[in-house]
Amino acid sequence: MSRPGAAFDAAAHFDEASATRYDRRIRSFCPTYDALHHMMAAWLSRLPERAEFLSAGSGTGAEILALGRRFPLWRFTAVDVSSDMTTACRNRVAAAGMAERVAYFEGRLQEFRSATSFDAASSIFVSHFIAGREEKLAYFRAISSLLKPGGSFILADLHGERASREFGALLEAWLTSYASHGVETTELDADRAHIENDIAFVSESELLELLREAGFDAPIRFYQTFLFGGWATTKRV
Ligand SMILES: C[S@@+](CC[C@H](N)C(=O)[O-])C[C@H]1O[C@@H](n2cnc3c(N)ncnc32)[C@H](O)[C@@H]1O
Repeated sequence: MSRPGAAFDAAAHFDEASATRYDRRIRSFCPTYDALHHMMAAWLSRLPERAEFLSAGSGTGAEILALGRRFPLWRFTAVDVSSDMTTACRNRVAAAGMAERVAYFEGRLQEFRSATSFDAASSIFVSHFIAGREEKLAYFRAISSLLKPGGSFILADLHGERASREFGALLEAWLTSYASHGVETTELDADRAHIENDIAFVSESELLELLREAGFDAPIRFYQTFLFGGWATTKRV
């Protein structure tokens, strides 16, 4: 967790300890995490049989594993700035027998260059860590530039207008849901501080405007769990 006002360092935050706990914690944090992957697969079901898929901020590989099982001929590129999350992803991919189908880039998505143009990409719970309008826009532009025209993009992120009535109500309901998983008070306090200090919340309308500027068609919102939202869009032709 960062100090208030300090820039969030994803590579430092998602260290070995965090990578080890991640798969258990994320399911307490986001009670519909697995449902999100199931829903993503439905949006992506019309892609070519041998699609090339980019997982931006791939973490421990949840999207790759879920989509890889559902679409057995797809190939994946996992991009993540954290070496510990990438190691966890590699281990899980190998254990699932998918090692031959996944390539890796360890670094920021904004610096990733590829000879492959991707049929589809996902960014799940990543860009809410990127502070600043220009920085968020650069991240979305980088994803857009890696996609084929008409390529699919699934975005899921924490979002909301901090000052709104909805935001406060959703935050409290979310933390109550999280606490009900038996989370200790100290961990709960640390996570509330993590949310307050490290998440660069923007409203849905601002997020959609950023996607438009980055070259995407008008997104369709297909998912919401507390402050988590999910949108499906395509790169403008
Ligand atoms: C909350 S995890 C989400 C992982 C996975 N997508 C999931 O849904 O479980 C965020 C991940 O994004 C990575 N990340 C953050 N900013 C990034 C960037 N600019 N480029 C690549 N990876 C990034 C972090 O290292 C971390 O592994």
